[in-house]
Amino acid sequence: MTMDILVERADGVLTIAFNRPDKKNAITAAMYQTMADALVEAQGDASIRAILIRGSAGIFSAGNDLDDFMKKPPGGENSPVFQFLRAISSAEKPVVASVAGPAVGIGTTLLLHCDLVYAADTASFSLPFAQLGLCPEAASSLLLQRVAGYQAAAEKLLLGEAFNAAEAQRMGFVNRVLPAAEVEAFAIAQAAKLAALPASSLRVTKSLMKRASQHELQTQMTEEAVHFAKMLLAPEAREAFTAFFEKRKPDFRSFP
Ligand code: COA
Repeated sequence: MTMDILVERADGVLTIAFNRPDKKNAITAAMYQTMADALVEAQGDASIRAILIRGSAGIFSAGNDLDDFMKKPPGGENSPVFQFLRAISSAEKPVVASVAGPAVGIGTTLLLHCDLVYAADTASFSLPFAQLGLCPEAASSLLLQRVAGYQAAAEKLLLGEAFNAAEAQRMGFVNRVLPAAEVEAFAIAQAAKLAALPASSLRVTKSLMKRASQHELQTQMTEEAVHFAKMLLAPEAREAFTAFFEKRKPDFRSFP
């Protein structure tokens, strides 16, 4: 349990809030574990009828903590990040996200597993895996092209440049763009609507929409994880992470 993630239960909604603003809500292993545990618990708790994921003021999440990546690279199917990805990708209850500020790396890819995504007009999204010497995770190499089409997905995954909420909506993984002051209240209201509906109907609807692709999704996630774990230990990623903390541009020219 870490205070860097706040888990609240109210009126049938489980809220998971990133709460590490001084590090832009970068996610540590302890934070993944807290989120994974909360999602697993929600699955078995009949009083929870919807899940809401949100960031803190002006930031959703800077993605995986790069210091953690360097010091404790996650390995294996039981690592906290993998437990979190398994839990969110197989959540039976509806998951709503409210994004107000940057959503980097897994901050964006986790949204591909949510059912309803609301973004502030100040939100930004990026998938800088290649820029970090890594490769996509969370089945984003499959899901992003499915939602947005191949070239749109390739541009975001190969170049890794940030894009805004309007573009994320055009790509298809943001439902609606709202003024920054309104997005959270709107997402909470949508979660409350879901919590008031028959849970069984939501469960069956979601499972009917997801079941055909679930196996493919899990296979892709496992395949990505094999490459990701190797690339984390390679010199390209070391150079990228070191450059980030030294606040300089990485230099990849010496790597074949
Ligand atoms: N891991 C570890 N620390 C991080 C981090 C991350 N992913 N993202 C930000 N931080 C830390 C910074 O090192 C800095 O710490 P310091 O105050 O001790 O120097 C602090 O959070 C603030 O970050 P900063 O970069 O100054 O904030 P910003 O508002 O200028 O930019 C971001 C915000 C999110 C755009 C920028 O921090 C960023 O690009 N982060 C890295 C994202 C990334 O590559 N994630 C991994 C994806 S797999």
